[in-house]
Amino acid sequence: EKAEIGLIGLGVMGSNLALNIAENGHPIAVFNRTTSRTGTFFEAAGDLRKMIVPCTTLAELADAIKPPRPVIIMVQAGQPVDEQIAALREVLSAGDIIIDAGNANFRDTIRRFSELDGSGLTFIGMGVSGGEEGARHGPSIMVGGTEDSYKRVEKILIDISAKFEGEPCAAWLGTGGAGHFVKTIHNGIEYADMQMIAEIYGVLRDGLGMKPKEIGAVFAEWNKGRLNSYLIEITATVLAADDLDTGKPIVEMILDRAGQKGTGKWSVIEAQTLGVSATAIEAAVSARILSSLKDERLAAEKAYGTGGVSKFSGNRDKVLHDLELALFAGKIAAYAQGFAVMDAASKQFGWNLPMPTIAKIWRAGCIIRSQFLGTLADAFEKSGALANLLMAPAFIEMMKEAHPSLRRIVAQAAEAGLPTPALSSALAYFDSYRQGRGTSNLIQAQRDYFGAHGFERIDAPGAHHGPWAGGG
Ligand code: 6PG
Repeated sequence: EKAEIGLIGLGVMGSNLALNIAENGHPIAVFNRTTSRTGTFFEAAGDLRKMIVPCTTLAELADAIKPPRPVIIMVQAGQPVDEQIAALREVLSAGDIIIDAGNANFRDTIRRFSELDGSGLTFIGMGVSGGEEGARHGPSIMVGGTEDSYKRVEKILIDISAKFEGEPCAAWLGTGGAGHFVKTIHNGIEYADMQMIAEIYGVLRDGLGMKPKEIGAVFAEWNKGRLNSYLIEITATVLAADDLDTGKPIVEMILDRAGQKGTGKWSVIEAQTLGVSATAIEAAVSARILSSLKDERLAAEKAYGTGGVSKFSGNRDKVLHDLELALFAGKIAAYAQGFAVMDAASKQFGWNLPMPTIAKIWRAGCIIRSQFLGTLADAFEKSGALANLLMAPAFIEMMKEAHPSLRRIVAQAAEAGLPTPALSSALAYFDSYRQGRGTSNLIQAQRDYFGAHGFERIDAPGAHHGPWAGGG
């Protein structure tokens, strides 16, 4: 019997995805450029071996799959994907589908679609979220390509995806780069979520002088409420863990320097290109950049001193409650921004992205999965088109309750010298967004003064100039 599907790239994600596919009853042919890996993978597959065809060449892989063949590529984003596509073109035939399941830049995905145009081959750009565990037991799957090509692999994708109360977390989202774009924004939001959690951790550690295990207990408690989510859950677990070598809390043994592979940065670049404000995501990416300057930061601390401990005054339970709500308010702003970016891209690229569906397929499997995404899906379903999530009735209620806490936390953190870049930018975004009369009248006057750009008046249509010599 021939395999239903093929997979190239047996790294951790690829291996786990292949095992997931096999376990769900779909025979799969696998290939890895370093052949020894294919052998190791197959040996370790145990009972699932009967569903797996290990291949040592791409020709063998093509031969092992029943045409028309779907083949998943799960290799490092960038050049390696182009190399695999070029190699596959030699062995595949008309009607076959190449599926890139890596974290591709959606602009590369669009280019690959057009490069395959006229080749008879079909392409799918597919975002997969959920880390190693997700890939093995059920990721969230965001598909971009033609609806027809999706239909041809839908059964397999639905079978392997995470389920939220029985509903599969896999969906076709739009043509071309839609799937990879949505995955990119998922990651941008992931960066913001993680950064805001880290900022709250910083306040608990340096503002309240709490120990990792105490902080972990706070997050564990919050995980039972409105903040319930995978990232809060693992934060609690991580903070409770001890280093096996020293016996100290493991977080205290980890260098405060975070890496990044590009998706966060792409979110920010695309937001700017589309003219959408995504400040919480920008702040999160920037924070990782600053985190990498460990030596400079140590030198600056010597020069300036640093934010001290226990400057957070007031009743501790009240501060903890404020912190919980501050994190929630920041989260609302970050998601409002992420969805606004997707809305603008949807219009720009003609994708017609289904926002409620996106929120729904993020409720399980992916890294940002949370109770909150259910609330968000409901809001989109009830309101239809929304200019901004902040204007959904349910969100107006939640934000009204939460923003005073965000304000108090950001203000106290500023006083104490504790950095909260993502939370403060979320607050500034909210305050700017809800300010009916802003301050850009002055910007317009300045632009007119030095560049005769003209401005609009509040009491008359058309372009006007000010009473200064430089203008006009
Ligand atoms: C996921 C993750 C996953 C990975 C990213 C982010 O959705 O499963 O987002 O794709 O963690 O590569 O990685 P960086 O933090 O290294 O940019």
